Amino acid sequence: MITVWVTFLFITIGPSYQYTYSCNSSVTCGCSSGSQSVTRIVGGETAGTNNWGWAVSIKIGTATGSALCGGSILSSTWIITAAHCMSGVAASKVTIYAGSSARFAGQSRAASSITVHPSYNSGTKANDIALIQLSTPLTMSTAVKPVCIPSVSSATLAAGEWPPASLYVVAVGWGTLAEGGSLPLYLQQVTIQTIAYTASTCSNVLNDPQKQLCAGVPGGSKDTCQGDSGGPLMMFTTSNQWELVGLTSYGYGCAQAQAMGVYTRVAYYQSWINQTTSNAYINPTLSVSAKVDPSNSTWGNATSLSDNTFSSSSSFMFFSLLFTLFFLMYL
Ligand SMILES: *[C@@H]1O[C@H](CO)[C@@H](O)[C@H](O)[C@H]1NC(C)=O
Ligand SMILES: *[C@@H]1O[C@H](CO)[C@@H](O)[C@H](O)[C@H]1NC(C)=O
Ligand SMILES: *[C@@H]1O[C@H](CO)[C@@H](O)[C@H](O)[C@H]1NC(C)=O
Ligand SMILES: *[C@@H]1O[C@H](CO)[C@@H](O)[C@H](O)[C@H]1NC(C)=O
Repeated sequence: MITVWVTFLFITIGPSYQYTYSCNSSVTCGCSSGSQSVTRIVGGETAGTNNWGWAVSIKIGTATGSALCGGSILSSTWIITAAHCMSGVAASKVTIYAGSSARFAGQSRAASSITVHPSYNSGTKANDIALIQLSTPLTMSTAVKPVCIPSVSSATLAAGEWPPASLYVVAVGWGTLAEGGSLPLYLQQVTIQTIAYTASTCSNVLNDPQKQLCAGVPGGSKDTCQGDSGGPLMMFTTSNQWELVGLTSYGYGCAQAQAMGVYTRVAYYQSWINQTTSNAYINPTLSVSAKVDPSNSTWGNATSLSDNTFSSSSSFMFFSLLFTLFFLMYL
């Protein structure tokens, strides 16, 4: 009887798992604080302080107030974000904030120039990528560090999807937690998976598989949302660094089943980024392959409980509470 109940509770509540990535703090890109703990929970969670030292919040002055986008640090003077955040926006209206997990806090810098991809199409969102040059360099530290930019050969890009499908990736942002919801004060993180462009859930929403990729969780419930635009989608590499594989571009609603989030495929734009910034970015030290391979890790198996940290989070407490109630009922 108890076994049946326990099984039932595990299935209905859904256990949460914690996975700790240990990045190499001596590298020049893709590692700000030494380890990043992520939990597989629905809808995301508040990120640890200084875990994502390249994530910046971008304030865009508008006629009625201000808008929010996310971005990533490439170097002390260059920020990468989405074109749909910057298209038609004057540099004088843009302020970026770095080095704090709180929105619009930390070091602030004015933009001196904005380069929207020349082939950006606001209708299809093709080439949704832009670069912002800062008027004064950021002060770099462990809390303010560049992300790594992929160095992928054109042969690899032509051979198939890069990054591959079904890979665990992390997206961060200060966007709303639910469709039409309010903005969180602190940076949020969410673990999702890349989705093959051939899957119907992806091909329904994506325009060009070379230039865009889909990510989400099969069945919905985790996604990026309003205000996350332009922010980073990251892969952990075998060199223990975080590499920028996508820029949050668009989705249909937030976290809806069947609709995956669409991200600009950064690897496709390596030479454009190089030309525009005059080589002001950093590649990973060794390898560009993913370290966390779902087919080779218990992290990838949602139903397997062994070898995972059953996190001391709310779901554990909820579970304990229900278990206790059940026990009391039968005493
Ligand atoms: C960390 O990076 C440094 C500098 O690139 C390298 O010498 C060292 O071997 C790396 N350590 C690990 C554990 O990857
Ligand atoms: C980047 O641009 C520089 C010239 O600014 C060039 O020498 C270099 O080969 C380029 N690198 C890549 C990866 O395209
Ligand atoms: C699985 O992981 C182990 C250790 O992390 C590694 O040696 C092995 O090559 C991996 N296998 C695959 C298929 O990725
Ligand atoms: C995870 O699931 C896959 C497919 O069901 C299986 O091949 C693999 O052995 C599982 N891995 C672990 C560690 O349980």
